[in-house]
Amino acid sequence: MYWRDAKRETPTMSSFAMRCRPAARYGLLVLLGATVLAACSDLGDPPTDPDPDKNDAPVVAAVMPDSGAVGDTVSISGTDFGDVAGSVMLGAANMTIVSWNDLLVRSIVPEGAVTGSIRLLNAGGTSNAVSFRVGSGGGGGHPLPVISDIVPLRTVVGDTLWLNGTGFGTDPGDLRVELAAASGRVEAPILSWADTQVLVEIPQTAVAGLVTVTDGDRSTEGIDFDVAPELISFGSDLLNAQRTQGLFVAQGCSACHFDRQFGNNGFSVGNPTDIRAGGIHGPAAVPRHAEQSLIIRVLKGIEPGIQRMPQGGEMPAAQIRIVEDWINQGMRDN
Ligand code: HEC
Repeated sequence: MYWRDAKRETPTMSSFAMRCRPAARYGLLVLLGATVLAACSDLGDPPTDPDPDKNDAPVVAAVMPDSGAVGDTVSISGTDFGDVAGSVMLGAANMTIVSWNDLLVRSIVPEGAVTGSIRLLNAGGTSNAVSFRVGSGGGGGHPLPVISDIVPLRTVVGDTLWLNGTGFGTDPGDLRVELAAASGRVEAPILSWADTQVLVEIPQTAVAGLVTVTDGDRSTEGIDFDVAPELISFGSDLLNAQRTQGLFVAQGCSACHFDRQFGNNGFSVGNPTDIRAGGIHGPAAVPRHAEQSLIIRVLKGIEPGIQRMPQGGEMPAAQIRIVEDWINQGMRDN
C-alpha cells in the first residue's frame, strides 16, 4: 500500500512532535531538521507511531467494490481503524457492520442508501471520504449472495467444489460462479444449486485464486482456492494392497498402525475407511477437510497430547501435502 509508506517517509513536524514525549516538545520548538530525528531517537521513541491502534483518525485506502446495490457487502481497507468497531457512513446512511479490525471493515449497503461518500468513524476521528455508487445492479437490485466458505480449499481441476453461504436463491438465474484463470476469470459449470449451497465443477483452465459469484458486473467477495497439481491415488501414492509401497510404508506408519485392533492407539492406515474411523482419539480424517483432520495435525506435530508422527521423526512438508491433497480430494480408495 503505497500511501502507508508515504506516511512513514514524509512525516510532518507536528506528527513528529506528537510522537515524542511531552518533555521533548519544547526541544522540538528550537531544533530543526535532522536534530528533530535525533531528539526523538535519543528518547528511545521509534520513528513510527508508538500506539498505532489508538487516537489516529482512520485512513481509508480502498473500497471494494466501488459500487453496489442495497444489501451488498462492501470491503473497506486502510489503517488505524482500531480494534473496537466504530461506524461507517454512506452519505447520511449508517452502514451495517459485518466485521471490523484495524485494517479491514466489511459492511452492508443499507436500505435507502444513495450514491455518495463512504466515511469511517472511530474514537480517533473521521476518515477521508471515498465515493461509492449505489445502483440497481445487474440483478435488478437483488442483493448478491454471501459465500461463507468453500469445500475443499484445494483440489485438482475436474474435481467438484462446494460453495456454502446464504442468498444463492433457488436457481442460478443470472448468477455465475467464477474462478481465477491464467487469462482472467473462468465460469465454473454448475452441478447443483440451492439457497445455501452450490456445487460446481472446477474448470480445466482454473488456477489458484479467488472464487466469486457474479451477477453482470457485480461480484461477491472472493474466497481463496488453490489448485492441486494431481489426483492422489491411495493405492500407488499412500499404501498399496500388499503394504509394500507408498508414503505410509516409506514413513513406517503401516508398521505401527497395521490394523485397528493391534495398531498403536488403535489406529490403522490400512485403508481409507480405517483412516476415517481413526483410533482412540476418534476419527482421524474428515473427507474434503484436511484442515479439520487429526492425522494432519499429528503429522504437523500440532495436536496437543499426541506426539508428532511418524513417531520419533518428521515427515517433510511436501509429503504432508500429499496426504492433505488426498483428504481434500475426498479420501478416494483409488
Ligand atoms: C514407531 C511406531 C510408529 C510409527 C512409525 C508411527 N506411529 Fe503413529 N502412533 C504411534 C504411537 C505410539 C502413537 C500414540 C502416540 C501418543 O498418544 O502420543 C501413535 C499415534 C498416532 C495417531 C493418533 C491416533 C489416535 O487416535 O490416538 C495417528 C493419527 C498416527 N499415529 C498416525 C501416524 C502416521 C500417519 C504415521 C506415519 C507418518 C505414524 N503414525 C507412524 C506409533 C507410531
